[in-house]
Amino acid sequence: MALSYNRTIGRSAGSTVLGVGCGTGNNWPLLLPKVGASGQVIGVDYSAGMLERARRRADKAGWSNISLIEDDAAKLAHLDGPVDAVVSAWCLGIVHDLPTALTRIVELVKPGGRIVILDFAQSRPDHRFFQWMFPLHRCALVAAGIDSPEDMDDARLKARWETGKAILSTLLPDLVEERFFHNAGMILHGTRPPRSDSSASKEPR
Ligand SMILES: C[S@@+](CC[C@H](N)C(=O)[O-])C[C@H]1O[C@@H](n2cnc3c(N)ncnc32)[C@H](O)[C@@H]1O
Repeated sequence: MALSYNRTIGRSAGSTVLGVGCGTGNNWPLLLPKVGASGQVIGVDYSAGMLERARRRADKAGWSNISLIEDDAAKLAHLDGPVDAVVSAWCLGIVHDLPTALTRIVELVKPGGRIVILDFAQSRPDHRFFQWMFPLHRCALVAAGIDSPEDMDDARLKARWETGKAILSTLLPDLVEERFFHNAGMILHGTRPPRSDSSASKEPR
């Protein structure tokens, strides 16, 4: 995870990074050294409870260059934008309107800015042991209220990201997809084209 951030966000000292679905701010210890004291992290989440825990984390650590915004990833209406980079970890796979969220995220990034998305591409890893364990794992997560049955639907998740990647590849010509954990984990990263007309990039894959 740390390696992914370092490699995919690029040089970002002094920059403003937007974290979409920031949760309690688990990723900030990785992001803050990248933006430095002169940079800023903006955390967005639609859960007031998550943001409250994130605020407590920032206060306890003495991080003053973090702002928190309660908003839906598919709206992101309360940002003045644009930002230098967007990072979203383990959120977009469950957002109700993935196409709108992805389009909005790219709109908010400056031309030349980076977008890094970390998520599950499939809920069932391509490994015999995990294939065997999957029904148990799914039952446990659904019973505990951590994931909904829809979120654990492998075919649905794959189809969502096929659509999501097709949208992203029209907006980010250099989009790269990397997989880890037996193909279940996915990092998507790319750069908004430096010119303002990002629509003239390339056809969807
Ligand atoms: C699994 S947590 C990941 C949190 C954090 N990014 C991390 O890596 O620890 C997913 C987060 O996405 C948020 N989330 C889910 N759907 C959202 C939406 N439509 N808009 C904003 N936040 C959303 C949840 O409230 C939750 O905090």
